[in-house]
Amino acid sequence: MPISRRDLLRLAVAGGGVAFAVGDGTCEPGARQPRTAGTATFDRALAIPPVAKSSVDADGRRVFDLTAHAGTREFVPGQRTSTWGINGDYLGPTLRARRGEWVRINLHNELGETTSLHWHGMHLPAAADGGPHQPVDPGQTWSPGWEVKQPATTLWYHPHPHGRTEKHVYRGLAGLFVIDDDVESALTLPRRYGVDDLPVIIQDKRFDGAGQFDEAEHGPTGLLGDTLLVNGTLNPYRQVVTEKVRLRLLNASTARIYNLGFADGRRFQLIGTDGGLLATPFATDRIQLSPAERAEVVVSFRPGERVVLRSYPSELHTVGIMSRLAGGDDTFDVLELRAARTLAPSADVPARLADVPRPDGADATTIRSFRLSERQINGKKMKLDRIDEVVRRDSTEIWEVTNQHAQPHSFHVHDVQFRVLSIGGGAPPPELTGWKDTVYLPPETPVRIIMRFADYADPNVPYMYHCHLLLHEDAGMMGQFVVVEPGQEPGKPGHHHDG
Ligand code: C2O
Ligand code: CU
Ligand code: CU
Repeated sequence: MPISRRDLLRLAVAGGGVAFAVGDGTCEPGARQPRTAGTATFDRALAIPPVAKSSVDADGRRVFDLTAHAGTREFVPGQRTSTWGINGDYLGPTLRARRGEWVRINLHNELGETTSLHWHGMHLPAAADGGPHQPVDPGQTWSPGWEVKQPATTLWYHPHPHGRTEKHVYRGLAGLFVIDDDVESALTLPRRYGVDDLPVIIQDKRFDGAGQFDEAEHGPTGLLGDTLLVNGTLNPYRQVVTEKVRLRLLNASTARIYNLGFADGRRFQLIGTDGGLLATPFATDRIQLSPAERAEVVVSFRPGERVVLRSYPSELHTVGIMSRLAGGDDTFDVLELRAARTLAPSADVPARLADVPRPDGADATTIRSFRLSERQINGKKMKLDRIDEVVRRDSTEIWEVTNQHAQPHSFHVHDVQFRVLSIGGGAPPPELTGWKDTVYLPPETPVRIIMRFADYADPNVPYMYHCHLLLHEDAGMMGQFVVVEPGQEPGKPGHHHDG
């Protein structure tokens, strides 16, 4: 069904005048609406990102060496696509460290332009955060270090250069950062990486006629592809050799929101979200992930069966055709899991996972409110030299975040893992009861989050909060906060080169 002129007018009003090519064939809804579930050929073995090599230095710190560089990859048979990658042609290795360890990362930039590398979901000093205030120029090496001080979970890393994040991520700069701890290690969960514990990094791409990534076509929420890659593999399948498999799902797409489930409707156990394990596993048949959100799930298999992970139409809670324009009606095959004839036994998922007490908000000393509209937060576009919020170290705060716009948006806060106190005044659903660093914002629905800003203060170097639809972030839907010592005044942010 073509978009009518009336729809476009309504969209222009609702979307705040987002520009839209009319009469350009590529903007026909058919062309931008992949509904390809059921058609994948699953003819390529799923790539598993290698675990990054590390060494321990004289100070006992675990050291990783990363190099960002350009390359090529044959995603589509017979076509070499120009890509970016870290220690490889596309994506980067899986970093792994244990709670209590000190890490140091040497990031060397061999790209032809300035980038940065942000440790998404990591609790760390602002100067190590890798946001827009820690640019790494071509030929330079940046070496942040910090102590890992948070529970076992699946974090990730990606560039964050001011105004260029969407392109840098789309070209291939991203990877997982897995944190281990004693709580998780003591549980009977699948944890053999690449065997019964599989990374699943989901990204959508659009290939142009020459087999190159098409970066040109943008809808109101950004770049939407018609082709999925999982860990950089097109049409992937994966052999399963155990009765249960843990999938570490990461939406590393720039704009697309996935609503994941299995083609046969089977249920799976959600065991963890962005920042750690849930208190108890939650059995469900769907998990929706907006860009940057993660979920750890455990799936059970019978010998010999083939099971397809799919992305179903998503629940964006937008009005009119906005969902369609944001890719909400699209469907995809993600990955086929092929169980072997005999499967090694797996233990049951424990009934209790981690200690995640329900927050009640009583300890919060400050409430702030954030309104997202157009491509702004609280009526302002991001400015590198403006501090928007000043937070006191070791304080607990409630942030009420509202999407006052007809478009889908999300909210991500650096440095912390938060808990969702309420959505539209009601209790959060089970999948939002654990640690989160990114949350989808249905329009006109206040989302209250609560978090503690522990350990680190730096009046001069801000952390970011922003919509994680990267087009929006790049366009200025982002703000900056500093954490200061009690009584300390905020400083003046500038560019800080550490190494
Ligand atoms: Cu995933 Cu500010 O980033
Ligand atoms: Cu982040
Ligand atoms: Cu947004």
